[in-house]
Amino acid sequence: MVTNRVPEYLYRLGEFHPGRAVAFDDTIRAVDTPEALQARFPEALVRDLGSGSVLYPGFINAHVHLEFSANRATLRYGDFMEWLESVIEHRDELVDAADEETMAAACEEMLASGITAFGAISSFGADLAVCRRTPQRVVYFNELIGSNPAAADMLYGDFLRRVEESSESRPEERIVPAVAIHSPYATHPVLIRKALDLARLRNMPVSAHLLESSYEREWLEHGSGKFREFFLRFFKSAAPVSDIDHFLELFEGTPTLFVHCVHTTADERRRLADSGHSVAHCPRSNRLLGCGRLPIEEIRSPLALATDGYSSNWSMNLFDEMRAALMLHHRADPRILARRLLRCVTEDAATALKQEMGRIVPGAPADFAVVRLPHIPSRPEEIALHTILHTREAAETIIAGNSVRKS
Ligand code: BEZ
Ligand code: FE2
Repeated sequence: MVTNRVPEYLYRLGEFHPGRAVAFDDTIRAVDTPEALQARFPEALVRDLGSGSVLYPGFINAHVHLEFSANRATLRYGDFMEWLESVIEHRDELVDAADEETMAAACEEMLASGITAFGAISSFGADLAVCRRTPQRVVYFNELIGSNPAAADMLYGDFLRRVEESSESRPEERIVPAVAIHSPYATHPVLIRKALDLARLRNMPVSAHLLESSYEREWLEHGSGKFREFFLRFFKSAAPVSDIDHFLELFEGTPTLFVHCVHTTADERRRLADSGHSVAHCPRSNRLLGCGRLPIEEIRSPLALATDGYSSNWSMNLFDEMRAALMLHHRADPRILARRLLRCVTEDAATALKQEMGRIVPGAPADFAVVRLPHIPSRPEEIALHTILHTREAAETIIAGNSVRKS
């Protein structure tokens, strides 16, 4: 593309990318040697990022529940069913307590850790105002939940109203409306079909929780276990609304971000990859809710690493999440795993959210996380590992070419 516009900035990248620089305005214009870029864009403001700096694409947190940001020590950890019962018991008080200030603080915490985009699972629409105001890009997943077919019309109507509301955003609000199906156990297939038709029609990204706990697998396969007691107690029902195969069948032709997937079989993991689906991995949430470890070494789909919400985590910081993943997957070479994890919070998360971002290439949005390493790694192949080990906050977060936060 030929353009006369002058990039506002030209960043020299420092010792880790010797002789490289990036020119950008709101999008990335070119990546080349500083000399070539200065000749091409003589009016651009030149900045040296400085010693120990690494320029990453802005980090992407593909799965977060802002509406549960008030939880710190209310929900019960250790066992998924005990946690879910505690969610039902405390949901109203937690959602009421998550005022705009609380949710904005979670967005600010993400900004501080270099997160320039996130996927917000919205159960009630209570987080829309905050998502409109935050500088980050938001894929706003309007969630559809409800296993009782008698309530389907009412639930779908409410869902549709939230979809329309999130679709009315102005471009500068950077909100992409999207659809979240809660899960195979909590969303009736009648609702799923209607929502997926709408998602396809409007080209909206889709996400769904899948096989987070072993209880979910037992319920969907055999109609037994702790979910049976749960459904009898809270919903006076004793049969699952779907099985795993039929649930996945509904999503054929609609590439979806499936969240957790801890209790998938090897065949199901293969099927997810073959069908073009992505996977979100939330290691701290899985650990705290007693769900176990996702075998990421067997995931062939694009894999996003995400924090989940304060309902099952203690921070919305992706450096914390990457450190946890590094410890959880203890059989992997940490140097190789570190590089994969950084792809899981950048380009693979972007693929999972179906957004053009997550890479430093011409034409991509100028979203960056500047990391400043306190110690220069002796071996360049260990930069990713030391980024994860030694970083608590990004030195600077840049969205659409604007510096939105410095530490
Ligand atoms: C439901 O609305 O059917 C539901 C909600 C939470 C957990 C399980 C089911
Ligand atoms: Fe979730």
